[in-house]
Amino acid sequence: MTSNPYPLGLRLHGRRVVVVGGGAVATRRVPALLDAGADVLLVAPELTPALRAQADAGRLHWVPRRFVPEDLDGAWLVQVAVDDSMAAASVSAVAAERRIFCVRADDRTAATAWTPAVTRHGPVTVAVLGGGDPRRAMTVRDAIRDLLAVRLAPDGIAGRPDASSGTTGGRQAGRVALVGAGPGDPELITVKGWRLLTEADVVVADRLVPGLLLDELRPDVELVDASKIPYGPSRAQEEINQILVDRALAGAFVVRLKGGDPYVFGRGGEELLACAAAGVPVTVVPGVTSSIAAPAAAGIPVTHRGVAHEFTVVSGHLAPDAPASLVRWDALAGLHGTLVILMGLKNLAAITATLIAHGRSPQTPAAVVQEATTGTQRVLRSTLGEVAADLLAAELRPPAVVVVGDVVDALDG
Ligand SMILES: C[S@@+](CC[C@H](N)C(=O)[O-])C[C@H]1O[C@@H](n2cnc3c(N)ncnc32)[C@H](O)[C@@H]1O
Repeated sequence: MTSNPYPLGLRLHGRRVVVVGGGAVATRRVPALLDAGADVLLVAPELTPALRAQADAGRLHWVPRRFVPEDLDGAWLVQVAVDDSMAAASVSAVAAERRIFCVRADDRTAATAWTPAVTRHGPVTVAVLGGGDPRRAMTVRDAIRDLLAVRLAPDGIAGRPDASSGTTGGRQAGRVALVGAGPGDPELITVKGWRLLTEADVVVADRLVPGLLLDELRPDVELVDASKIPYGPSRAQEEINQILVDRALAGAFVVRLKGGDPYVFGRGGEELLACAAAGVPVTVVPGVTSSIAAPAAAGIPVTHRGVAHEFTVVSGHLAPDAPASLVRWDALAGLHGTLVILMGLKNLAAITATLIAHGRSPQTPAAVVQEATTGTQRVLRSTLGEVAADLLAAELRPPAVVVVGDVVDALDG
């Protein structure tokens, strides 16, 4: 039959969906059903480890046996995910008898429903049917996904984020998203962070934010360069808080774009509190933090089996003997694991001396990673005893992360 399929968006929340089969196809299908809130009954003698984990976590009901017709009692939809076409046909027959739509992985022509290729973009779901050709559907879906991510969202096709922002006096109420931009490579922002960025009216960006991300903003977006705000550090933070609140209260969707993760030495908490105090709704989008990504970019895992069972991220912006320092460097010296020091170049000589004085071996491997994940990344390998001097000789400069611990050599051939 060549008639066109009739597209529908099924609202499956709390509704029984039966999945027959526990292999690779079911593993791919089940997450979207769970995401839709379906009450999933999985009928299969055996499950893949991923499905087993869902069953163990109580997210679905697993019946560890072959299909029997009573499994479809109360079902709204059935997905047959078995290769055995005889078994699939018998499930389909029971489904047809009961007028339950049946998706078949083994034979699309015998199915009464097809699953589309899907891309989700905030509140918008795009589902593509390729006229019976799943590859065609995926190709079209991919093209639409790229278009939505890059071109269409700014014009409002993807909609404003979140209906919860509502309206005030007939005007769209503003809100703020604190978005982690990642460590430097523009591709290391999260999908959600990127989507919100394309939807922003105002972007307030930090110095360490990848420039290429800003390059892609549409021309009418107001870009506030937070690193250019004058006054001392605390005054500047107050100014930034005020800009976020004022723009949001004026109805704008403001993205506060911060290097790495907003809550890792990023003052994201202060900005969240300032917005909350002004009644401005805030979304926080975590980012890939340089404290893990910079070592990784230099071939250093922050943990490694048999080498390090912990890693500690610490700020070195204050010298160990500074009265305002909150860090117990003496205690850190007693740890065996990995120490990742951010903002520590200026005080590195004092920091390494303190760690050694309190018992960490000067032979401990150490590395410095400057401008990690960017085209100008530099890596210095040394030891705890030598790294401060080597750093000066190599003329490394911020932003850089210092890594101390045996993990520094862990992946060396
Ligand atoms: C104010 S902290 C912000 C950290 C950020 N929120 C994060 O999660 O990565 C700035 C410090 O992060 C580190 N840093 C940030 N980006 C870096 C990069 N691309 N390479 C090396 N270090 C980086 C440096 O130690 C820098 O001084």
